[in-house]
Amino acid sequence: MQLIDAGTPATLAASVRARFHEVFGEEPTTVGRAPGRVNLIGEHTDYNAGLCLPVALPHATYAAVRLREDGVIRLRSAQADDTWEGTLADVGPGHPRGWPAYVAGVLWALADVGYAVPGVDVVIDSTVPVGAGLSSSAAIECSVAAAVVAALGGSLTDEVRELLVPACMRAEIEVAGAPTGGMDQAVSLFAQEGRALLLDFQDGSRTQVSLPLHEAGLAFLVVDTRVSHALVDGGYASRRADCERAVAQLGISSLRDATLADLDRLDDDRVRRRVRHVVTEIERVEEVVAAAAHGSWQRVGDLFVASHASMRDDYEISCEELDLVVETALAHGALGARMTGGGFGGSAIVLAPVDRREEIGDAIVAAFAAASYGEPGLLSPDPSAGVSLE
Ligand code: GLA
Repeated sequence: MQLIDAGTPATLAASVRARFHEVFGEEPTTVGRAPGRVNLIGEHTDYNAGLCLPVALPHATYAAVRLREDGVIRLRSAQADDTWEGTLADVGPGHPRGWPAYVAGVLWALADVGYAVPGVDVVIDSTVPVGAGLSSSAAIECSVAAAVVAALGGSLTDEVRELLVPACMRAEIEVAGAPTGGMDQAVSLFAQEGRALLLDFQDGSRTQVSLPLHEAGLAFLVVDTRVSHALVDGGYASRRADCERAVAQLGISSLRDATLADLDRLDDDRVRRRVRHVVTEIERVEEVVAAAAHGSWQRVGDLFVASHASMRDDYEISCEELDLVVETALAHGALGARMTGGGFGGSAIVLAPVDRREEIGDAIVAAFAAASYGEPGLLSPDPSAGVSLE
């Protein structure tokens, strides 16, 4: 079983510094590191004022930054061949496109909340798989935000991180045009090593949840199916629209206030199933937190499986590849497995006994080959720390 390496922060920070020097002929002043994430449970609940429970990956984006006095912005990525060059006046809804949107969008949003962003040179490098539903975009946004804030003389206090969550979200929603509910940015900025982050989108609270997986002889295996089915954005937006329709029809302020008894008051079967997913998924997050606190790991696994079924049947955001990961993992001794992230492709997360992890990974690779799917990517992440300066 071949795992996708997260690299070590010191090595990756040195490498992005070297790359910056190569490209721009000077040393960067600051390097920010921000992780991707895998959500344990609580999918499509963030924009419904619900609960979710993500962990930060050791896989992260590293952003090297140097301020300029002339208002020019130059952006480079180790994962792309092009350089984007412009000024803040060239940044706004819909432009630039592609990866520069996430970088330039953050500069634009920071300027809008009062950071005097002059010109800046930026080089990013990342070990977060792209397009895998593991928040490579939030990792870019948060790493750039951290590096720029530090270059301007600020430090990453809780108050500053609090301000960076909506700024990074605006880069994604308004500039890149990709809707997001805020889970990804919150965990990238606030995660702690060895813990999951319980996010409550009704009262805005964040609770660190300890995850003694190793002590229990368990590990996560994350499987990137490397498929992204068409209409991803449309699919996400239409799920949100169904939720909004239900909220209006039920006369409540969010689906956090809905109960299963409300289902009878909805006239459309599809909307009813969407609401059933959201209501039961929020309950499952609470149950996973309680089960983890008692070391009831098989119960956590069972809740993963129930969550997957709900996303497959009620929210309809799974796909054959994700279902195959879950089935194969369970057949080879996993405690539980579910698709994770926005859906329509991307990744699944498996809760596995450490001594079965290899067998499960190999079985999934073999099952993909047998089904003539492309080779999946495998990660076995330990819950890692959020944003930092390197
Ligand atoms: C994407 C979004 C998140 C969240 C998940 C689904 O990752 O960016 O805000 O809605 O989908 O849970």
